[in-house]
Amino acid sequence: MTAQLELDHVSKHFGDRVIAEDVSLAVDPGEFFVILGPSGEGKSTFLRMIAGIETVDSGEIRIAGTDVTELPPNKRRIAMVFQNYALYPNMSVYKNIAFPLKMQFFSRDEIEPKVRDAARTLGITEILDRRPNQISGGQQQRVALARAIVRSPSLFLLDEPLSNLDARVRFSARAELKKIQRDLGQTFIYVTHDQKEAESLSDRTGVLHLGRFEQIGPFHDIYETPTSHWVGDFVGDFPMNFLPEPSGPNEIGFRTEWIDIGSGPYSAVVEVAERQGDLVSLLCRAPGGQRVFLTTLQMPTIGETIHFGLRQSLRFDAKGQRIEGGTTGALPAH
Ligand SMILES: Nc1ncnc2c1ncn2[C@@H]1O[C@H](COP(=O)(O)OP(=O)(O)OP(=O)(O)O)[C@@H](O)[C@H]1O
Ligand SMILES: [Mg+2]
Repeated sequence: MTAQLELDHVSKHFGDRVIAEDVSLAVDPGEFFVILGPSGEGKSTFLRMIAGIETVDSGEIRIAGTDVTELPPNKRRIAMVFQNYALYPNMSVYKNIAFPLKMQFFSRDEIEPKVRDAARTLGITEILDRRPNQISGGQQQRVALARAIVRSPSLFLLDEPLSNLDARVRFSARAELKKIQRDLGQTFIYVTHDQKEAESLSDRTGVLHLGRFEQIGPFHDIYETPTSHWVGDFVGDFPMNFLPEPSGPNEIGFRTEWIDIGSGPYSAVVEVAERQGDLVSLLCRAPGGQRVFLTTLQMPTIGETIHFGLRQSLRFDAKGQRIEGGTTGALPAH
């Protein structure tokens, strides 16, 4: 199977700022691939290189098997959806969707069925006459996607398209976006710094750090078995906890939910406690000064010492790389 998107030894720098360092990646047709990384890590620049808005220093980019490295954006058959959707406020929804076709000199008779098809696919036929400020955020998202679809792209590039939505509608917007991608069967490359989006949307996630994908895989695998201290720390609602091994330079890493509270060889003192729904989230301090995140059902006293054991843990070497086969303790049943 030909990959829908291939990066082949791509490098990119802005002066001494590294964005990509010899990056190779293959994304399958129909795959939802999320590029996850902290702010300023180079995620948008990656998308812009794939789109052709930004050049690469070296390496090759292929879309559906075709080398597009030297092609301008309009020859790459990509559709880009931005954070603010970039809808034209003075145009109706219909005209917004039709706009890219008009720019390509399609006739009115050719444009109409394409716009109506896209509107039907996304369930926005009823709002074609409205202006962007007369529709909801979720509908704006669908209009932006409809505008992308009419050009029959072979790749969708999305740059934090949900970040302007308020928290309460994000869940439904995410679910809807996932469904649209499945129905279209198209390849999506989606950039975000939001864990939840990576977790719920992606078939695979690539964690971007210092110009490399530090880890690529299903989100759950990255969460459970991060390849490095950095990934364990970055991925998850809580960072992974790390404590030094009793001797030697290595450390153990463990997720909050791998902790058994009550007894065991470890202890930590409660510094901050916060009720979140049914659970209490605790920030604690281990005897060596390391921070440990715990969750409990009962609200503890600040300053209280909590003893705990670990059902499962990972091992990391002095450079922060996970030591293969280093899982200690009994594995929990999944
Ligand atoms: N044209 C440019 N020239 C020089 N430096 C740039 C240019 N574009 C981006 N940068 C720098 O490259 C780095 C990565 O920027 P980029 O916008 O790709 O990050 P990002 O991961 O998308 O961040 P965010 O999550 O905040 O959107 C930043 O330090 C930025 O200042
Ligand atoms: Mg960005």
